[in-house]
Amino acid sequence: MEALLTQTRILITTKTNPLSLPPPPSLPKPSLSLPNPLNQRTQLTHRRPLRLSASAQRAPSSAAAEVAAASGLAVPSKMKAWVYSEYGDASVLNFDEGVSVPDLGEDQVLVRVVAAALNPVDFKRRLGKFKATDSPLPTVPGYDVAGIVVKVGSQVKTLKVGDEVYGDISEKALEGPKQFGSLAEYTAVEEKLLALKPRNLDFAQAASLPLAIETANEGLERSGFSSGKSILVLGGAGGVGSLVIQLAKSVFGASRVAATSSTGKLDILKSLGVDLAIDYTKENFEELPEKFDVVYDAVGQCDKAAKAVKEGGSVVVLTGAASPPGFRFVVTSNGAVLAKLNPFLESGKVKPLIDPNGPFPFSKVVEAFTYLETGRATGKVVIYPIP
Ligand SMILES: NC(=O)c1ccc[n+]([C@@H]2O[C@H](COP(=O)([O-])OP(=O)(O)OC[C@H]3O[C@@H](n4cnc5c(N)ncnc54)[C@H](OP(=O)(O)O)[C@@H]3O)[C@@H](O)[C@H]2O)c1
Repeated sequence: MEALLTQTRILITTKTNPLSLPPPPSLPKPSLSLPNPLNQRTQLTHRRPLRLSASAQRAPSSAAAEVAAASGLAVPSKMKAWVYSEYGDASVLNFDEGVSVPDLGEDQVLVRVVAAALNPVDFKRRLGKFKATDSPLPTVPGYDVAGIVVKVGSQVKTLKVGDEVYGDISEKALEGPKQFGSLAEYTAVEEKLLALKPRNLDFAQAASLPLAIETANEGLERSGFSSGKSILVLGGAGGVGSLVIQLAKSVFGASRVAATSSTGKLDILKSLGVDLAIDYTKENFEELPEKFDVVYDAVGQCDKAAKAVKEGGSVVVLTGAASPPGFRFVVTSNGAVLAKLNPFLESGKVKPLIDPNGPFPFSKVVEAFTYLETGRATGKVVIYPIP
């Protein structure tokens, strides 16, 4: 596999402890008082010159035409990608201009990546926490993608060249995730893992969604969450939590939504639609008299969460130990879930929340990882534009 990589690997990273790095100096400080995710679109538009308009009103075909014209839909044999050949901290990430464009399976499409997003699983995988079930090194990381189909496999039924798509490219996050991920100019993805990009969202917004929104949806479904039930979301300002809040309210018909965050993010929780925003630096949610049908734990506090759930309720656990009434699951990527949620995204009932420290350009992937690994991201850490 090493033969797939050029010998002219360019090391862009430093050996500095990533956790000690400040946010990228060229980017604004995180704005933690965003009243509405839509504001992020405005910021995104003005932050740096973008190749594609971030306007929600833009006709998707024109954006497709722009990228298609830029690439000519001609697929080179080599591409730019971020690669690591050993497990470790963010300094193992190398920028490589000569990675082979992945081969296409019969049921796959080749996506010209326009934007990608990072998830905690990306750095946990890079740290070697799942090495027993990981694909072989070297790895091009990245699960979340938004881009344009430039080639289709012989068994692809619906998608066609030029389609604007988004999705989580690895069906099982921990079991044999793709060796050639989305932090690259091209990635090969099974058609069933993708959906057409919501028409009102730009590529950066669309890339922020797949793994997190599919996790939010699957956890709610597995808990049996339904109209009229109440929910407490632990970690409401994070990538998954911000979407659990919105799906519970707008898709599943929650009667009441509570969520936890630190003090500076309470306004974000409110803008996402919570009825009760709990400052975990000042209050212990498990000591509140109010109990909930479901507690959705995106932090790793199952024991405390069990004390906040009603008799007969359940705790959805994404990380850390789980014991009844808690249950833990690992998300399965599924394009049909995205297609189901597209109307809620296109109507604006569910909105992407992009961390205001980003989007990070492709050259700043190490900084993006370092920031995500602080555990303080608000919404999603997005990589855009690519390359
Ligand atoms: N099992 C699965 O299939 C699956 C899928 C997706 C994610 N996950 C896991 O779920 C976890 C969350 O993922 P994510 O993408 O949402 O992460 P994330 O976006 O990095 O989460 C960051 C957020 O967590 C909040 N947070 C940290 N400690 C908190 C606390 N004690 N109480 C309340 N909020 C707290 C932070 O808010 P403050 O700054 O206010 O603290 C920050 O906004 C990760 O461990 C991830 O690996 C699992």
